[in-house]
Amino acid sequence: MQTKENIKKWFKAARVDDFPKNGGACVKYKDKQIAVFNFTRRGEWFACQNMCPHKKEMALARGMIGESKGEPKVACPFHKKAFSLCSGENINGEEDPVTTYPVKVEDGYVYIGLS
Ligand code: FES
Repeated sequence: MQTKENIKKWFKAARVDDFPKNGGACVKYKDKQIAVFNFTRRGEWFACQNMCPHKKEMALARGMIGESKGEPKVACPFHKKAFSLCSGENINGEEDPVTTYPVKVEDGYVYIGLS
């Protein structure tokens, strides 16, 4: 998990309006694909690696977002493995965790914190 304390750069990803409500979209930064989620129901934004650790599919941006015991999560569209959008851990599974990124919104733009 990347935290706000170790951020070296805020990457300007896209405009707020470019992301679906209660859904995700993929942005690219250099060789990284990052899934960004506009979790409107919670009034929060989240970001994690787009690659699902299960079969290495670039898919998490197209996953279903929801909650598990109050914790925000995304479920991969392929085999429904779910990952915490806070810690990146595979919920109820044994897959490797995903990398998560801090997100901030300023002046109508979405920024992703990179370390
Ligand atoms: S590829 Fe994501 S759950 Fe299988």
